[in-house]
Amino acid sequence: MPTPDLVTAELTLTGRITTASNATFLGSIGDVVVVYKPIAGESPLWDFPQGTLAHREVAAYLVSQAFGWGIVPRTWLRDGPMGEGMVQLWQEQDPAQDAVDLIPADHMPETGWKHVLQGRDENGRLVALVHEDSPALRRMAVFDVIVNNADRKGDHILALADGHRHGVDHGLTFHRDHKLRTVLWGWLGDALTADEEAGIDRVSEGLHGELGRNLADLLSAEEIASLAARCARLRLAGRFPAPSGEMSAVPWPLF
Ligand SMILES: Nc1ncnc2c1ncn2[C@@H]1O[C@H](COP(=O)(O)OP(=O)(O)O)[C@@H](O)[C@H]1O
Ligand SMILES: [Mg+2]
Repeated sequence: MPTPDLVTAELTLTGRITTASNATFLGSIGDVVVVYKPIAGESPLWDFPQGTLAHREVAAYLVSQAFGWGIVPRTWLRDGPMGEGMVQLWQEQDPAQDAVDLIPADHMPETGWKHVLQGRDENGRLVALVHEDSPALRRMAVFDVIVNNADRKGDHILALADGHRHGVDHGLTFHRDHKLRTVLWGWLGDALTADEEAGIDRVSEGLHGELGRNLADLLSAEEIASLAARCARLRLAGRFPAPSGEMSAVPWPLF
């Protein structure tokens, strides 16, 4: 089967992934499996302008490309059965792996994991929220600070069989106000690595060229200026930030 044109070839819906907040569908373009989120299916939010989430998802992909770490699966805008929306390549998760987990609080592994917080589950047991301590997740945490991700839930991190980790669901990004809500707080205060700093620099430089031009079709000028400011601030600090502001530092639910 020839590779279909991912923008113009017919997009067929094969299932619905979420029904609650946003309309998120599983679809196919020829034999390519995709996620499709029509703009018409975006629920109104108090803090993000209506009808902009699909654009933010594509903007997050472009920034991910500038980082060069393959965090966000290929994402683009196109028409579909329910109108214009965002489409993203489907990535098969490994059901045997979890990058983020809730575990009994007294079962914290000695190495390889970071502890974020603890609380009681519905049965009153003390549980801990933990995530992998890996270069891949560190990069995702840096990416989240830069795109100002307000919704990095556990289920928005896909664990692939080969060890790669993808981030998905980036509709709540690029707000001008600080909105970082994430489960990836394990490196709070730690110094950034040279690799992480180089990634931030690629985004900063990109904003003066092709990345900046492409983002101009997707985000407001103020949002792009805020993005540049976050890059500069994180580079200057040289460390993973701590939670700040009045709002919750973790998304709810956590998964
Ligand atoms: N590109 C993808 N590949 C594989 N699974 C995905 C992909 N995008 C989303 N998912 C899965 O579908 C779930 C719902 O998608 P999400 O983008 O979070 O939609 P919503 O905006 O409705 O919350 C995710 O938590 C994830 O498990
Ligand atoms: Mg989601």
